[in-house]
Amino acid sequence: MIRRAHAGDLESLMALERRCFAPHEGLFQRRQIKHLLTSAKAAWFVYGEYWGACCMLISANGRARWGRLYSLAVDPAHRQHGIGRALVLAGLQWLTVQHIDQCRAEVKAGNESARRLYESLGFAQTAELPHYYGIGGHGLRLTKALRDAP
Ligand SMILES: CC(C)(COP(=O)(O)OP(=O)(O)OC[C@H]1O[C@@H](n2cnc3c(N)ncnc32)[C@H](O)[C@@H]1OP(=O)(O)O)[C@@H](O)C(=O)NCCC(=O)NCCS
Repeated sequence: MIRRAHAGDLESLMALERRCFAPHEGLFQRRQIKHLLTSAKAAWFVYGEYWGACCMLISANGRARWGRLYSLAVDPAHRQHGIGRALVLAGLQWLTVQHIDQCRAEVKAGNESARRLYESLGFAQTAELPHYYGIGGHGLRLTKALRDAP
């Protein structure tokens, strides 16, 4: 049911974004998705017939590398069936294979469904991000360790 996305998925992923987010919520541009579909530092996963998709990104600063849950969207008609959870788990598995030991996610403070999902997967709040989504749009950073400390 879940597969890695490739360049040929571009238009269908854009259509999924439009079904899941309002324009003011900051839709990905075509060129951003295209770049993420071909970058070695990113991986997209698609569930079913574009019922949902997730993008993981590897970020780095000096020697530190960490994963970012960069995008997660499930078609409104297919929510509450475990698709979001399955997509995040596939992304975390990919990060682990890439030897990444921490994953971060930013989420709007008021996005209860996403927060519950991430928390149920073991993400914990590590920072408040005032006005991260524009004036008054407060965010939270959630973090999950992917390996046990040595
Ligand atoms: C957040 C989002 C990705 C969740 O996707 P989803 O596929 O509905 O997620 P899941 O089905 O895995 O989990 C959602 C809920 O369904 C429940 N669920 C899962 N399988 C279920 C089943 N078979 N029967 C009933 N409920 C079920 C889960 O327990 C969970 O319950 P909760 O909301 O009380 O915690 C989705 O709502 C979405 O796309 N939102 C808009 C975009 C967005 O906010 N993205 C995240 C940005 S940070």
